[in-house]
Amino acid sequence: MKKQITNVNEYEGIAKEKLPKMVYDYYASGAEDQWTLKENRNAFSRILLRPRILVDVSNVDMTTSILGFKISMPIMIAPTGMQKMAHPQGELATARAASEADTIMTLSTVSTCSIEEVASTGPGIRFFQLYVYKDRNIAAQLVKRAEKAGFKGIVLTVDRPFLGRKEDDIKNRFRLPPHLTLKNFEKNDGTGGSIQISHARGQIDPSLNWKDVKWLQTITSLPILVKGVLTAVDARLAIENGAAGIIVSNHGARQLDYVPATIMVLEEIVEAVEGRVPVLVDGGIRRGTDVFKALALGACGVFIGRAVVFSLAVDGEAGVRKVLKMLRDELEMTMALSGCPSLKHITRDRIKFACSL
Ligand code: FNR
Repeated sequence: MKKQITNVNEYEGIAKEKLPKMVYDYYASGAEDQWTLKENRNAFSRILLRPRILVDVSNVDMTTSILGFKISMPIMIAPTGMQKMAHPQGELATARAASEADTIMTLSTVSTCSIEEVASTGPGIRFFQLYVYKDRNIAAQLVKRAEKAGFKGIVLTVDRPFLGRKEDDIKNRFRLPPHLTLKNFEKNDGTGGSIQISHARGQIDPSLNWKDVKWLQTITSLPILVKGVLTAVDARLAIENGAAGIIVSNHGARQLDYVPATIMVLEEIVEAVEGRVPVLVDGGIRRGTDVFKALALGACGVFIGRAVVFSLAVDGEAGVRKVLKMLRDELEMTMALSGCPSLKHITRDRIKFACSL
């Protein structure tokens, strides 16, 4: 009999048994000492809930809108690369699960299904995550293709001028299995987007700076969300330079080790932003209570990364659907038991930092 999966964390253990070591390590690991990787989770356990009682919670409303796009819950899918290593349907399965759950999926630049293939799965609100390469034409073409394919936003990842040192990947000599390709860079994708993979791989531009954020706005009318903000000063700069949204992220602890957990810097950034643009957060989200804590600290929504790839590995589209449903149900229960019938009831006083834990 198939084991009953009752929470998001269980997928990781099953995925570990199922996936080749090289792939599991690539998905799971963090940079260097992996301090930030552990801290992304540990920090949530230092935040406690302060429920209110005797509030009518017979109906709990989790619907929200991000940049004007209505979604069923404040839980969205982060960009994670190369999903066909997890499951043959890869990003297509993730896209279908996201649309079914009425939430936003972010497609990575380094995906194993192309922008157009993901769009062809049917309607859905999707963002495209952009890495900017030395050849700016590549970024321009990708953005144009995403726009044409009906994507609704560009998530500009700014915390990867160089690839972080993940020592498991170095030991395993990680590389994309030969039967897979980074589909957005395939030569004949039939869309005129003929980018050669050899031109793109390893060519992310370390000179990327705020001027490029401005440049990006000249080539697209899509809103640009800056992903990888960890300080108030950069949040302010992002807004001054035209960002439509801010994603507080440490890249799932895969880039710079010993940066704080994202949940620990969220409040400082929310305060600096002063409601001018939505602040979103990712990193270590595995429970509905984590989502609640992020919202209480002022986030408008959260993104999940590893929870998606592990559930995809275990059970394809059904796995991702189940993860989204479990998080949704957990958030609903947390809200009900905390006396919050809607997202606007999740205020700062509903949580406290437990200093002595
Ligand atoms: C990522 N992440 C990421 N980010 C990005 O901007 N572009 C990308 O291609 C990828 N690829 C990627 C692959 C894998 C396997 C992981 C785990 C992560 C980072 C991702 O968007 C997100 O910031 C983190 O995954 C969030 O942390 P959790 O939910 O994995 O703890």
